[in-house]
Amino acid sequence: MIFRLGDFHFPDDPARLYPDTPGRPWVLEVGFGDGRFWPHFAPTFPVTPNYLGVELSGVSLLKAHRRLSAAGLGSGILTKLPADVLVREVIPHGALDVIVVNFPDPWPKDEHTDHRLLRVPFFQLAASRLKPGGAILLTTDHDEYFEFAVQQAHASGVMSVQTGEPPAAALETKYALKWRDLGLDVNHARFTPTAHAPVPHGDVRPYPEDEPTVPHAVLTLPDTFTPTDFDKVTIRMPQSTTTIILLDLYGSLRRDGWVTLAHVIEGELTQEVLIGITGREDGTHLVRLAKFGGPIITPGVKAAVGAVTQWLESLGAVVKHRGY
Ligand SMILES: C[S@@+](CC[C@H](N)C(=O)[O-])C[C@H]1O[C@@H](n2cnc3c(N)ncnc32)[C@H](O)[C@@H]1O
Repeated sequence: MIFRLGDFHFPDDPARLYPDTPGRPWVLEVGFGDGRFWPHFAPTFPVTPNYLGVELSGVSLLKAHRRLSAAGLGSGILTKLPADVLVREVIPHGALDVIVVNFPDPWPKDEHTDHRLLRVPFFQLAASRLKPGGAILLTTDHDEYFEFAVQQAHASGVMSVQTGEPPAAALETKYALKWRDLGLDVNHARFTPTAHAPVPHGDVRPYPEDEPTVPHAVLTLPDTFTPTDFDKVTIRMPQSTTTIILLDLYGSLRRDGWVTLAHVIEGELTQEVLIGITGREDGTHLVRLAKFGGPIITPGVKAAVGAVTQWLESLGAVVKHRGY
């Protein structure tokens, strides 16, 4: 199954995600590529665990989906997201048995090490989402990244490190085969949590069914309000990693109103959202996050609704109610 971010709950419940197999072990694979690992790894368990795979590449997502379906593993959930967003917002505390990372992107240049996944913050996050006795399994051809990851695990203060042989399935992935053909060695480590320092979930929720809690504002536009041009607006939120860019404004041919296209960047998570400005029967206008595109409601998305409202205020609108 393919899940979009908006299909999850925050945090989610494995019993909701895998209603036919609740209580089975739960395996997360980060960066599953074309999906060759799971069909080799799943049969090594007495019963097939519940599987969640996270990948940044949409092409890989589709290839892996086909491969898992053909292998009878179609109940596994695949999603296209940055791994740390999924782990932080979707996975409950102490819920995962195994996190598998095979051949992660090494980001070899010194100035790019910040892009590496296996750094102190991820180890601390993973330790809080793994069950007692759970583990991260890392297999990589990249010696320098391997040493870096081991050093970061120690520096996290929450992981013990055991090196050894990788599971056989990790040597069957696309990248493993590439390195094997070149006759190169791989490194393997098992990182086991030694402490449980809970890393909190964020202020994130799905698009709500109940209308009043969708971020919105009600305002009166000036009589003369007929926008003829629109300049891109960029807002960097102080003391956070959030940037909101109001990219464009479109007039609706069907209703009295407009739609703003906004780009909301919050750390690793980027969402493109639409914010409607729609006329109401009483002459006021409703500024409201649209459901289109399956947005999730984050502090940045609420702030984007606020940014559209403030832009309208700067043009003379009078706000009657703020719900963001
Ligand atoms: C070198 S490839 C390895 C793919 C596969 N594991 C294999 O062994 O064939 C690394 C993969 O990780 C994915 N990736 C990189 N950063 C990621 C992140 N933050 N979250 C999820 N996937 C990521 C990339 O899109 C890429 O497919």
